[in-house]
Amino acid sequence: DRTTVAIVGGGPAGLLLAHLLHRRGIDSVVLESRPRERVESRQRAGILEHGTVDALREVGADARMDEKGLPHDGFAFHVHGERVHVDMAELTGRAVMIWAQTEVVKDLIALRLEQGERLLFDTEVLAVEKVDGPLSRDGEALVRYRSDDGAEHELRADVVVGADGFHGVARRAVPDDAVRTYERVYPYSWLGILADAPPSSDELVYARHENGFALLSMRSPSVTRAYLQVPNGTDPSSWSDEEIWDELATRTALGDGSFTLNRGPITDKSVTPMRSFVAEPMRHGRLFLAGDAAHIVPPTGAKGLNLAVADVRVLASAIGAWRESGDESGLDAYSEVALRRVWRGEHFSWTMTTMLHRAPDADPFDEQLALSHLRLIAESTAYRTSIAENYRGVPLAGEH
Ligand code: DHB
Repeated sequence: DRTTVAIVGGGPAGLLLAHLLHRRGIDSVVLESRPRERVESRQRAGILEHGTVDALREVGADARMDEKGLPHDGFAFHVHGERVHVDMAELTGRAVMIWAQTEVVKDLIALRLEQGERLLFDTEVLAVEKVDGPLSRDGEALVRYRSDDGAEHELRADVVVGADGFHGVARRAVPDDAVRTYERVYPYSWLGILADAPPSSDELVYARHENGFALLSMRSPSVTRAYLQVPNGTDPSSWSDEEIWDELATRTALGDGSFTLNRGPITDKSVTPMRSFVAEPMRHGRLFLAGDAAHIVPPTGAKGLNLAVADVRVLASAIGAWRESGDESGLDAYSEVALRRVWRGEHFSWTMTTMLHRAPDADPFDEQLALSHLRLIAESTAYRTSIAENYRGVPLAGEH
């Protein structure tokens, strides 16, 4: 079996890449290790940058997003009971969209299957091989996989894209001495909930309290999504619904008593650890890494999906140029162009995370720094604009 681009991983990065390539007339096969139901039910982040929305429009995955997504012009910080509003639309002329990653993935899968293009679920990639060496059209790279019926197969490809997440196999095909990694692990996690409760405000609230971080988000006019900072290793079932609501109320309260929390039945609870990670370069020979396979951000600011989408936009046009005219310059520049935006996302996610969380060893000095940081956002339009620009998403290198 043979294809032009073998895409390891059927998350948002792999699926969107397959669509962007298809639009350029380039054949690909997407191999996903999990069953379709699992891919479509995992709760992930929910904020799409403007450029991410554009990319979904480009491939025709925008109908449900336009019907049910919630455009947001701004968001608020609540730090030690003080509130600061960031009016993104006014400051940057751009908004973001609340539309869950789960829903994005459902639409990309449905569209792919409708087109009759290849997307294999329950398919475990065993090895990515023969990626060393120059680009060629001879199908020299090799992906070995086990299909859902247990049989082993070989797929030959001109290039392989590793979009199989942080724990994926693709990155392991790169020899240790050909990659440099950067990493930070945080001393806290997020307890995330979904609840049948109308959002407590029209916009998202990012809060810091001496008990730690809280975030109020939403999935629809009747569903709240919220997060609490908890110690690493926390068992989600150790928090009762009432304890969760009480703690969300405590951490998001305003000093003047003007904020009230809507409560309702909690339908999902899970705990997510937090990590920053970058592997560079994002290319080794005929293998290109994209999304979480190459980089991870802590969730604060919701950059993970958006960075993955930016990667595959760069990659799709570079592969397109190479197939069309033999021009390899886009593929040669891929890692550098993508990493420039990745590091902006790393810095922004780290800034939002450290400003808003309380480290286990935090002291009053840290609390004063967080409060001063908030007041800087409130008092400096220049600084607030910078936060807004990062939140709504920065252009790719060379884009304006
Ligand atoms: C959501 C997640 C985030 O990490 C964030 O910064 C904002 C919203 C969410 O899941 O809705």
